[in-house]
Amino acid sequence: MIKVDIKDTKQFLSTNVYGLQEKVNQIHEMIHNKTGKGSDFLGWLDLPFTYDSEELDRIYKLKEQFSKIDVIVVIGIGGSYLGAKAGYEFLKQPFKKQKPELIFAGHHLSANYLKQLLKYLNKKNYVINVISKSGTTTEPAVAFRLLKAHIENKYGLEEARKRIFATTDKTRGSLYQLAVNEGYERFVIEDAIGGRFSVLSAVGLLPFVFVGLDVKKMIQGAQDAYNDAVNPDLKKNKAYLYAVTRFLLQKSGKDVEYLINYEPRLAFFAEWWKQLFGESEGKNGKGLLVHSASFTTDLHSLGQQVQDGKRIIFETVLNVKKTDKLQIPSDTDDLDKLNYIAGKEISYVNQQAFLGTKEAHLDGGVPNIVITLDKMDAYHFGYLVYFFEIACAMSAYLLDVNPFDQPGVEAYKKNMFRLLGKK
Ligand code: PA5
Repeated sequence: MIKVDIKDTKQFLSTNVYGLQEKVNQIHEMIHNKTGKGSDFLGWLDLPFTYDSEELDRIYKLKEQFSKIDVIVVIGIGGSYLGAKAGYEFLKQPFKKQKPELIFAGHHLSANYLKQLLKYLNKKNYVINVISKSGTTTEPAVAFRLLKAHIENKYGLEEARKRIFATTDKTRGSLYQLAVNEGYERFVIEDAIGGRFSVLSAVGLLPFVFVGLDVKKMIQGAQDAYNDAVNPDLKKNKAYLYAVTRFLLQKSGKDVEYLINYEPRLAFFAEWWKQLFGESEGKNGKGLLVHSASFTTDLHSLGQQVQDGKRIIFETVLNVKKTDKLQIPSDTDDLDKLNYIAGKEISYVNQQAFLGTKEAHLDGGVPNIVITLDKMDAYHFGYLVYFFEIACAMSAYLLDVNPFDQPGVEAYKKNMFRLLGKK
């Protein structure tokens, strides 16, 4: 379960959040009746209940079939990458050797990375999951060409075909066509689910199952988040409360939202979150600038600016209640003068750092929304994913933009293709 606390924003708002209840009710109806802009892309809305359980069983079977592999390479970019990476980082214990290891590719065009990856895979027993709805996205397509040649060379054509799984469109596109021609195991990205809303489909579930994450708990978390958001009442609906608060903060001049964490495993979750909100809202000259920071680390780099720079920032803090138990030891010499906290839990010290920072930033004119989660497990990952997705839909509609398109992404591609001489 999560809690949303907006009390440290109120002094910055000129309108009461609950004053927007009627507007929220209208948008809620629009989302659920699928009458708003871009409503063809609302396939994620019921996904926690309508996901393809047969497809999920097939993923578990495939995992069993390849239970001895060392590595799964997941190829994809943007919405076909960030969710899987965010979930993996959210749930992976630092320093724990993972078998199979999950390696991402196709999320940039670094020759150095790809060359070293191919070299690394020479001695590994591996499979590939190539994820692309269109099949023509340059970065994953380049990576897949290289890896396809590598895996075919290593295992022979027939075995390689069994080791490549394609997550793509149901009926069309070049990856779909290739997968059909080659007989790859196929998984579907539904037409009605855009990349940044696809993590709880095969896009995220296949990599998660392969590395042993508890996908059932994740879905249960998303179902609970759905149930918590069926009533639009802002006193009950935490996702909408978050959406309305950030909308009003922007109205009062706070143009930059920082998603803050005090746990490094949350750092990549913020990358997924940035795509979700940035790509959904950043259009027609509108939308908050989305940013992120890991505290206390970044308090030693960005802290000055947040405290004292341009007053256009607010923070949304992901505050984790339960983490590992570990006490600060006592030291006879006490040269670092830390004995005053000897015997205290590190998580307690981290909490005080959070509370102290919040107080300082509030004094400096930085409002804080605090989202508290009990712990970082699969359930809470699923819950947070759905929570932010539904909040994002509400938030974008409050701005009167289509949350589900991304026309701006084409501009760089057009120039790159021209420079590359694409016909
Ligand atoms: O959210 C989106 O739509 C994008 O980030 C896409 O997921 C990304 O560009 C990858 O596209 P594709 O899956 O077609 O390769």
